[in-house]
Amino acid sequence: MHTDRLEMLQMTTGYWVSKMIYCAARLKVADHLARGPATAAEIAVKSECHAESLHRLLRALASLGIFRETSGGKFELTPKAQYLRSDHVEGVRDFAVMINDDLFEAWCDIYHSVKTGESAVHKRFGGDFFSAVLSKNPDKSATFDRAMEQIHGVEIQLMLEFYDWSRFACIADVGGGSGQTLFAILERHPSAKGILIDLPDVVSRARAAQHPASKRCAFHGGSFFDSVPSGADCYFLRHIVHDWNDADSIKILRACRAAMGKDARLVIVEKAIPQGNEPEFAKLLDINMLAIGGKERTLAQYEKLFVDSGLKLAQHYPTPGPTDLIEARPA
Ligand SMILES: C[S@@+](CC[C@H](N)C(=O)[O-])C[C@H]1O[C@@H](n2cnc3c(N)ncnc32)[C@H](O)[C@@H]1O
Repeated sequence: MHTDRLEMLQMTTGYWVSKMIYCAARLKVADHLARGPATAAEIAVKSECHAESLHRLLRALASLGIFRETSGGKFELTPKAQYLRSDHVEGVRDFAVMINDDLFEAWCDIYHSVKTGESAVHKRFGGDFFSAVLSKNPDKSATFDRAMEQIHGVEIQLMLEFYDWSRFACIADVGGGSGQTLFAILERHPSAKGILIDLPDVVSRARAAQHPASKRCAFHGGSFFDSVPSGADCYFLRHIVHDWNDADSIKILRACRAAMGKDARLVIVEKAIPQGNEPEFAKLLDINMLAIGGKERTLAQYEKLFVDSGLKLAQHYPTPGPTDLIEARPA
């Protein structure tokens, strides 16, 4: 078969693979195998599932290099499967669960989004993802926090490397989730203070984790559509505005602008979508955001958001990684 045709077919059935990974992640197969190889029947007892079906699932995943069946009929971890372990420092287990659960349901309506421009999440759940799905389910909300740490944690090093945070006495993380990023910045800059802003249940979990840097942190639980606390000289928003359409993004940015002093800075941490046909994760993430009701944007589109929010572009810090830093100041 022509390789292009084969690749087309593999891509066409791509959700088979993501849903199989989802099953293995939910069943914690990798955690069970971390203690040593086991048969599907043995894993099925621990995972409380149907042994023959689990065997079929693991055989299919093994054909993709995720798990491996030994000659003795046991399954074992492969390098790829290691990343499904809950205790792996660079693991993706919670991300695999989160992205293939309610968001997968929303993706079933992606055709509707492309036809109408409307959010698939709204169509399916009757509201935005955070208030209509996560806020109603604390377990899913906690899984989402961990998923964000797993998928975006790698960006922290880029943020520290490509932006000078040392000039700020107080840094606010707007929609900061678990606080992983803000705490890492505060650890690197021991004289700085922080403000973590997110929905009340998210902030409560972050505070309860008692990270050492949280001693230098104020915790603000509330909606960034209502207001954002003043007092910081830098407000950063990582993967916040991509969740929202332009009108909602402008509301969030205006709330930040209202909190900012004249010398304060606002930093959007997102990938500015580049021109051209080159592979770029943000171009795929953009379709996930279409389902959610938001979008990834070009630098010009961020600049327009700033202008509409009483801000102006100060500097674009591109990075070779999955995110850039886009700095604005009061207009
Ligand atoms: C995509 S996550 C990004 C989390 C974190 N900034 C990161 O980069 O990993 C979006 C965050 O926005 C928060 N959020 C959603 N709606 C909010 C609202 N109305 N007010 C405050 N935070 C909100 C969510 O709870 C979540 O932590």
